[in-house]
Amino acid sequence: MTEKFITLEGIEGSGKSTSLKIINNYLDELGFLFINTREPGGGPIGPKLRSLLLDTDTSISPEVEMMLMLADRKDHVDNVILPNLKQNKWVISDRYMDSTIAYQGGGRQLNLKNILSVEKLLDLPVPSLTLLFDLPVEMALERAIDRGELDRFEKEPIEFHNRVRDSYLKLSRRHPERISIIDSSKNRGEVESQLLNILKPYFKDHV
Ligand code: TYD
Repeated sequence: MTEKFITLEGIEGSGKSTSLKIINNYLDELGFLFINTREPGGGPIGPKLRSLLLDTDTSISPEVEMMLMLADRKDHVDNVILPNLKQNKWVISDRYMDSTIAYQGGGRQLNLKNILSVEKLLDLPVPSLTLLFDLPVEMALERAIDRGELDRFEKEPIEFHNRVRDSYLKLSRRHPERISIIDSSKNRGEVESQLLNILKPYFKDHV
C-alpha cells in the first residue's frame, strides 16, 4: 500500500464532495501539504476522456468504457499522483481503482478477473486508506437528481446503481485493512464525526 494516498469512493450522490471539505480542513489543521484530485479526468488527457465518458449522447461499450477508465487512471497516476507523492504531499483522490471494480465490474457486469488482469499491467499504486461513502441507492439518487443535469452514469436504472453499491460493499469485506465505510445516510454532523473517528487514528499511525 502507498503511504499518504487516500481515495474516496461511493455511488452517485453519496456525499463525497461535502466530506472532502471536512478532510481538507482536517489536513490544514494538521499543517500537512496535500492535493485534491479526481477520476475520471485527473491527468493531462483526462478532461477530454472525462467529457467523452460522461457525455449522454455518446454510446460506449462496457469494454471500451473500462479501457478508457484505465487509460485515464494511468495518465493520472504517472502525471499527477506519483509526482505529488514524490514531493511528499498527501494525495486525496475523488474516485480511483475501486470505481472500476464497482461500476464496470458490478454495474456493467464485466468479468472481474479480466479487469484485474488489465489493471495489473499498469502497476498502479494502492491507497493506504479508502473511505467508502455508503447509503441506500434511492436516497443517493434523490440527492444526485437535486444537483441538476444527470450524466451518462446517473441516467442508468436503479438496478445498475444497486449492483454498484453491492460491489463496493463486497470490496470492503475483501479489503478491511484499507477500506473504511461511512454511513452517509446520516446527517452532516454524524457523517463528520464518523469521518474524524477514522481519520484521527489513521493520521496518528501515518505521520
Ligand atoms: P462524477 O461526476 O465525478 O461523479 P461523482 O460526483 O459521483 O463522483 O462522474 C464520474 C462517473 O464515472 C461516476 O458515475 C462513476 C464513473 N466511473 C466509472 O464508472 N469507473 C471508474 O473507474 C471511475 C473512476 C469512474
